[in-house]
Amino acid sequence: EPAPLREARAWVHGAGTLAVLTGAGMSAESGIATFRDAQTGLWAKFDPAQLASPEGFRTNPSLVWDWYAERRKGVQRALPNAGHVALAQYEKTHLGRVTIVTQNVDDLHQRAGSTDVIRLHGDILQDVWLDTGRCRPCDMSRAVPGSPPRCAACGNLVRPGVVWFGEMLPAEALSRAELLAQSCDAMLVIGTSGAVYPAAGLAHTARRAGAKVIILNPEPSEIDDEAHLLLRGTAARILPALLQTE
Ligand code: NAD
Ligand code: APR
Repeated sequence: EPAPLREARAWVHGAGTLAVLTGAGMSAESGIATFRDAQTGLWAKFDPAQLASPEGFRTNPSLVWDWYAERRKGVQRALPNAGHVALAQYEKTHLGRVTIVTQNVDDLHQRAGSTDVIRLHGDILQDVWLDTGRCRPCDMSRAVPGSPPRCAACGNLVRPGVVWFGEMLPAEALSRAELLAQSCDAMLVIGTSGAVYPAAGLAHTARRAGAKVIILNPEPSEIDDEAHLLLRGTAARILPALLQTE
């Protein structure tokens, strides 16, 4: 067994509180495209600012809606991979000591059985109203089907419940994630390029607060300097070995 894996296992199992920060790479082996992987990444085909931003949606709501509808179908077809399952099992045998902070908008951690999951960038399976400030809340069940659906009464549009470029992250989720990064004994960072803040900053926060930082990624990431230990491999292959308890 490679030394880094043995050392990482000692840190993970020795941690009273384990924080797990996941990105798109966590779900790559479930068949969901990441953003920045050169060939397969979503950004190789689309301009993110055009599709994943409030301006993009305002300019062309049906194009953005259809793009998300496509990705939503991909998420619904996907299955949790061995990495998601290993994390969920580990949480079960270490109740109250494992919290996942995810940048992903799929529900694969939850479907694998993880219960303590902080979602920084929303949920692609959720619909929300574009204009939440309306005088009276529109009734989602009465939205007129379309691309995108709209409120029959006031014309308000339905949008995907994800965080877009330049949008604020949900405050409660972000503050929980910050507190976790400041208090955890170890942070396991899986499948993120570390390209996007504030999520990527959580590894720096954990390291500065004295946590052991382990980064699991087949490729170098922009936050590798924060790692005490780098595991060069994929989530579905490394996590079962790293988290096995016997
Ligand atoms: P998105 O492109 O809108 O990402 C929103 C996030 O991008 C914001 O938090 C923002 O801080 C960040 N951002 C800002 N500037 C950026 C830049 N220049 N380059 C890259 N990111 C920038 O994401 P989306 O397409 O609306 O999808 C929503 C979610 O999909 C994202 O939160 C991302 O985590 C995610 N995702 C999930 C999966 C999965 O669920 N497995 C796979 C790929 C991506
Ligand atoms: N196992 C582990 N890591 C993997 C795997 C795998 N099987 N396959 C790819 N990776 C790694 C890649 O090396 C890359 O570092 O996953 C990372 C994917 O990076 P991104 O595509 O940038 O995804 P992410 O880091 O989640 O993006 C952050 O930016 O576009 C926005 O909001 C979006 O939440 C996303 C945020």
